[in-house]
Amino acid sequence: MSTKNIRLEVMQFLENKIDGFVDQYLIPIEKIWQPTDFLPNSESETFFEEVKELREIAKDLPYDFWVTLVGDTITEEALPTYESWLMDVDGVGQVEQNGWSKWVRQWTGEENRHGDLLNKYLYLSGRVNMREIEITTQHLIADGFDIGTGRDPYKNFVYTSFQELATYISHNRVSQIAKQYGDNKLSKICKMIAGDEMRHHHAYSEFVTQIFKVDPSEMLLAFNYMMKQKIVMPAQFLRESGEKISSAFLNFSDSAQRIGVYTASDYVDIMQKLIEKWEIEKLSGLTDEAEKARDYLMKLPARMAKVSERLVIPAESQVFKWVEPALTR
Ligand SMILES: [Fe+2]
Ligand SMILES: [Fe+2]
Repeated sequence: MSTKNIRLEVMQFLENKIDGFVDQYLIPIEKIWQPTDFLPNSESETFFEEVKELREIAKDLPYDFWVTLVGDTITEEALPTYESWLMDVDGVGQVEQNGWSKWVRQWTGEENRHGDLLNKYLYLSGRVNMREIEITTQHLIADGFDIGTGRDPYKNFVYTSFQELATYISHNRVSQIAKQYGDNKLSKICKMIAGDEMRHHHAYSEFVTQIFKVDPSEMLLAFNYMMKQKIVMPAQFLRESGEKISSAFLNFSDSAQRIGVYTASDYVDIMQKLIEKWEIEKLSGLTDEAEKARDYLMKLPARMAKVSERLVIPAESQVFKWVEPALTR
């Protein structure tokens, strides 16, 4: 049997458990928080005072903070790209409406609240140029992405396991920084979003754990492939208005590194966590090729840590059209 057919069988086997995964890792729509729960209520008489207070507190936050929060928001707002990508993975039946497409739709419904909430906060804050942000968002969706997984479910679940943890880390750090600057409401917003990302990380990494039980060598080869070629960020094609595709990504990433929201050493930590979570060291009954892949993988975090130590991040913030420097500290 071809490796693709085995993957389809494994996906079908896991599909029988989808309802359990949904119950365990997602929250019923009527019970989960909504963006409005953390924003000034526009139906209330006190709306304008609440917005005024939000804007006053926002004045203390520094430039790199805004750039990072804007980039994170745009990344969340490009959700249509991620949903359409996952819907095309082998074993996910969009038209047949199988269990996997149900999972992807429910996951998308949860994720959609993140961009919605952050966007409304940014709009109310008065610290950013919303029109420039909107143009970037539209560009990013139009540019799409290529995460190097193809339609392979194994590679895609490695990618989502990694990314959900990466977004957990970055939203959680933004939350901590907001708190340091006395912005408790923004801190709460980012904490709530980070909580969702962690739940999603648990779900996707559980899918991988289950695949390891039935198809260990192929799962390991897929994991190794993704680590070897490196996980690209979903906002890899980020650009500002009037600029070329991808031209804003590195500067955004530098801002995030400079304020410690998401760094090269976080990347290595995530890799190490996944290696431990999936107990790569203990896998048995592997093919020769998979054994070699394991040797390579086990040494990779230490090797990458050495490389990341040598990285130099420019000390000065790049100026973005999204955030007018005169409006921030
Ligand atoms: Fe998200
Ligand atoms: Fe997520």
